[in-house]
Amino acid sequence: TAVDQVIRHKAAFNVGAAVTRNELNSASYANTLKTHYSQITAEYEMKMAHIWNGVNNYNWTNADALVKFAEDNDMEVHGHTLVWYKSFPNWFKNANYDSASFEGHVKTYIETVVGRYKGKIISWDVANEIFLDNGGLRSTDCPVFKTFKDPVAFYGRCYRYAREADPEAKLFYNDYNVVLAGGKRGAMRSMATRFKSEGYPLDGIGDQMHYMETTNRNTIKNGLADMALTGLLIHISELDIRINTGQSDNFVYSTTEQQKHANAYKEIVEAYEAIPQSQKFAISTWGLHDGSTWLTDWWHPKEYPLLFDDKFEKKLTYEGFLNGL
Ligand code: XIL
Repeated sequence: TAVDQVIRHKAAFNVGAAVTRNELNSASYANTLKTHYSQITAEYEMKMAHIWNGVNNYNWTNADALVKFAEDNDMEVHGHTLVWYKSFPNWFKNANYDSASFEGHVKTYIETVVGRYKGKIISWDVANEIFLDNGGLRSTDCPVFKTFKDPVAFYGRCYRYAREADPEAKLFYNDYNVVLAGGKRGAMRSMATRFKSEGYPLDGIGDQMHYMETTNRNTIKNGLADMALTGLLIHISELDIRINTGQSDNFVYSTTEQQKHANAYKEIVEAYEAIPQSQKFAISTWGLHDGSTWLTDWWHPKEYPLLFDDKFEKKLTYEGFLNGL
């Protein structure tokens, strides 16, 4: 039936996309999103630097609008992200708080944000990107590392604050290269074990999966299976696949390239399907259409990483995703 040809209906888990408040003003954007996806993640509007303008000074405008859109259209919201080294606001960093004040303010922040969306946001990335690929803790530019003797215990308490603010929300740890870097995966597993023995809540782990068409698919498949051995929920949280891997301005997105690309999507979805059904949570793409992607904006020439083209037409990658289900 036609319904089986729509990813959000065919999938036995949520299919998400990272979105921005601004783009929802476009009717084609909004229609494409609600037709094909069942979940959204704010690309940046729920990060600390965008919400937290000062102690007792919160800007809810964009986050509220995204949550309202999801409510109006029968979609879930995945919250991203409460504590990320890159998103501490400048006013907070400049204050140079001692560990007690640092934690007191972050606790209030978590309680305020998670509490506001209690029952409306089904899951949160509490901590994002705290480990290096080799399994060490990120130290450079990380305010948490600089403030606490035992940063992992601080993160553990953040999970506890989030749990207390909304006991129903699923709490995730999110990072990149989880399936590709055994060292990082090992560090995450140790953290999960420690959290369990010390009573810090953790429900799931997310792997961003900002990939290239050339990323080895066996490694992805084996890494996902290994992640699943934790018994936690598994989220593919920020999937996009670069095809212009040579970063060339003369790249041609030919039919052959599109087919290769579709196959990459298909095999990643298949690898996700291979983990136990009870651990599947969602696959979320990092953006909706090729006309707007952080890859083009940030450091690459034109890229084509998503399931829809600049005109919101379905691409072969969409068929690849669908066929992987
Ligand atoms: C990126 C967004 O796409 C940009 O628009 C933003 O300004 C910076 O962050 N890992 C993450 C995401 O967890 O939050 C990042 O998103 C991409 C890498």
